[in-house]
Amino acid sequence: MLDEILLSHSLLVKLFLGFLVGGLVMLLIGSKDPLKLKRTSFIYTLIFQGIITMIAFAGLVAMVVGKFGMGLDIILMVLIWGVLMYIEIRRHKLIKFANLQNEETYRMLKVLFVKIITIQIALVTAMVVFKILQAKGVISF
Ligand code: HEM
Repeated sequence: MLDEILLSHSLLVKLFLGFLVGGLVMLLIGSKDPLKLKRTSFIYTLIFQGIITMIAFAGLVAMVVGKFGMGLDIILMVLIWGVLMYIEIRRHKLIKFANLQNEETYRMLKVLFVKIITIQIALVTAMVVFKILQAKGVISF
């Protein structure tokens, strides 16, 4: 039971990473139409929040079923989860209410979108690397 939950948590994290990288590529090679940025941002945030909620759910169930204590790894996961959700909500709201007809605003927000996805990828990758190093015994928390 615990193995299956941990596997789901782990697979969801990898799916999430794949989605973030895919999102970044789409944003870089996709449409240059300012009106489409709002739609892209909406679809991105829906999928983002859907997957990240499932990650937290599987993680919390794993914690309860596996009786894991609040180790540094879990504190880090919860913190990273909070930061990811916070910056994503801020990012989406900014684009949702911006006047993208203004070329300068459009260009600025598109660059910001790219920067934020890059930060999101870095945070998730850092957590995955941390868990790999921990499993290999390089980090012992
Ligand atoms: C509320 C949020 C979360 C909770 C409660 C949670 C909980 C857990 C628990 C209990 C484990 C098993 C710990 C162990 O094997 O020592 C785990 C494993 C893991 N978590 Fe999370 N987690 C959360 C969010 C995240 C996030 C946001 C990420 C990625 C950024 C993440 C990445 C991982 C990874 C890579 C593993 C190792 C999986 C494996 O063994 O293959 N977790 N998590």
